[in-house]
Amino acid sequence: MAKKIGIVGTGYVGLVTGTCFAETGNDVYCVDIDEKKINNLKKGILPIFEPGLPRLVERNFNRGRLKFMTDLETAVKECEIIFLCLPTPPSEDGSADLHHVTECAADIAKMIRDNKISDHKILVNKSTVPVGTAVKVHDIVAEYISDEQFDIVSNPEFLREGFAVEDSLKPERVVIGTSSKYVADFMRDIYEPFVRSGNPIIVMDEKSSELTKYASNSFLAVKISYMNDLSAYCEAIGADIEKIRAGMGADSRIGKRFLFAGIGYGGSCFPKDVRALMHSAEDVGLPLKIVTAAHEVNDQQRHRFINTILKRFDNNVKGMTFALWGLAFKPNTDDTREAPAFTIIERLLEGGAKVKAYDPEAVENTKLRFGDKISYEKNHSLCLDGADALIIATEWTVFRKPDFDEIKSKLSKPIIFDGRNLFDLDEMQESGFEYTCIGRKTIMPD
Ligand code: UGA
Repeated sequence: MAKKIGIVGTGYVGLVTGTCFAETGNDVYCVDIDEKKINNLKKGILPIFEPGLPRLVERNFNRGRLKFMTDLETAVKECEIIFLCLPTPPSEDGSADLHHVTECAADIAKMIRDNKISDHKILVNKSTVPVGTAVKVHDIVAEYISDEQFDIVSNPEFLREGFAVEDSLKPERVVIGTSSKYVADFMRDIYEPFVRSGNPIIVMDEKSSELTKYASNSFLAVKISYMNDLSAYCEAIGADIEKIRAGMGADSRIGKRFLFAGIGYGGSCFPKDVRALMHSAEDVGLPLKIVTAAHEVNDQQRHRFINTILKRFDNNVKGMTFALWGLAFKPNTDDTREAPAFTIIERLLEGGAKVKAYDPEAVENTKLRFGDKISYEKNHSLCLDGADALIIATEWTVFRKPDFDEIKSKLSKPIIFDGRNLFDLDEMQESGFEYTCIGRKTIMPD
């Protein structure tokens, strides 16, 4: 049966989750304190770039199943279940800052008390929160209302930016952390339409559920850092990380995915979650050695790449101009948080070089950080005009089969630094480029 579902926070997770629940016929109340964002959403203007999402938002908004509001009280009164999809940014020491979640939980509890709402409420921690947060939020709410009036459930989100709609409508798994059978059944009911192909809904205790999220993201980060660590060794001994990836990935125990060496993971999730997990484990005196190593390798990898670029020019890039393809931390998003491209820009600017950049979606976010310190071009071809070398930082599809003759004719020297291993080595040799990539040999023109 369709439910009334409250979503607090219309960021990535909240907006996608709410829209997908509306798509399966529920009545969804999306709440945000940001009035401008809510007014924009009502006009169909989305705060994020996410393929497929605008159409779903429009459809469900027009059908009246998806409502946008700043009024939390209405959602609290109307909805039996409220998802907290709030930011949990890193504190200075790397731990997750929970103040948005705890303050919102307290506000909801006060509203239930002050409005004398007697129906049972389920509060869902959908944000990525450290182990013990369900207990913490429970204790905060219990200061205002009685235990029987509510449950707190952990329900981590596994969606990827760029594939968020697909991941939400067809999740590979749904993890639910609760010790209440009533809550488990309720959650199963609302998630059942998403897992009709048989993917599992896994119910466990709250702490294990909270840790499953960190463990999953950190494991993927470990996979990437493992390949990046190997890539340096490959370069030193003349092996090819791409061939090794194919050889490893064919073993189903290892799997093909997340084995791409590059210039390191970025975004709003892996770097933050890895640091938060490291911090939580250190807190109980049990530092996680493998996760810590993954973090260190990731940090080194982007600097290793830019060091190679600088070294190629005898550490003197003053007055040089670099074309930079890609600013987002990965393709299909406008997100530039912890983007390796930003480290490259910073180091080039420090060295006195000029940067001409292009990204299909992430220019506006880059302007917020670098303003007019670099120039932004309308397409990837224009970046090349007057540049001395090309650097590729994000593997957008549009960069994968470029016109090499054009690149060669426009650059002052035919030099490409590819942080994403996009091109075939033989082709680069034939085209007469100097081509430096990750974990593979450097091609020098004949
Ligand atoms: C990640 C997880 O994949 C999602 O399951 C999770 O829900 C999400 O974090 C989150 O916690 O909210 P996302 O950050 O959108 O999703 O991006 P990914 O596609 O996982 O990529 C993360 C980074 O790893 C990117 O910088 C990407 O370039 C890098 N990467 C990925 C590699 O360097 N090599 C690979 O083989 C794969």
